[in-house]
Amino acid sequence: MFEAIGGEKTVNRLVEAFYHHVKLHPVISSLFPDDMSETVRKQKQFLTQLLGGPQLYSMEHGHPMLRARHLHFKIGAEEADAWLTCMDHAMNDIGLDPEYRKIIFERLSKTAHHMINQPAINH
Ligand code: HEM
Repeated sequence: MFEAIGGEKTVNRLVEAFYHHVKLHPVISSLFPDDMSETVRKQKQFLTQLLGGPQLYSMEHGHPMLRARHLHFKIGAEEADAWLTCMDHAMNDIGLDPEYRKIIFERLSKTAHHMINQPAINH
């Protein structure tokens, strides 16, 4: 899939577009550091390997253990939805091939919901 969507160039464009939206998002922007260059770099590595490209993230940082790495951020359903909205916009921005877009988005939706570490608030 990594090669099919255009390899490194496409992943780079997707991740840059994604964090552009994250920076502007009222629900999640405050969770991220002002300087997102490391975040961007790690997300490029991670998505490269998630999509079947070289295992760049694990080679540098070891097992992703993504849920554990997110435990010190408060992530509820609202944050997960915000993250996915930013990804949806980024996919639009770069015109990701619709054939792969659906599969990738579904995969990321599962991962985003797996990151939820705050119970839903009952009103
Ligand atoms: C790191 C938020 C979902 C992959 C981070 C960081 C935050 C964050 C605040 C730390 C940024 C930094 O300090 O540089 C969130 C929120 C999510 C979410 C609110 C909503 C569900 C995801 C998903 C993925 C992902 C779905 C994967 C597809 C990563 C990676 C890192 C990261 C790879 C870098 C980890 C490291 O430090 O090595 N995320 N994230 N995140 N996130 Fe997420």
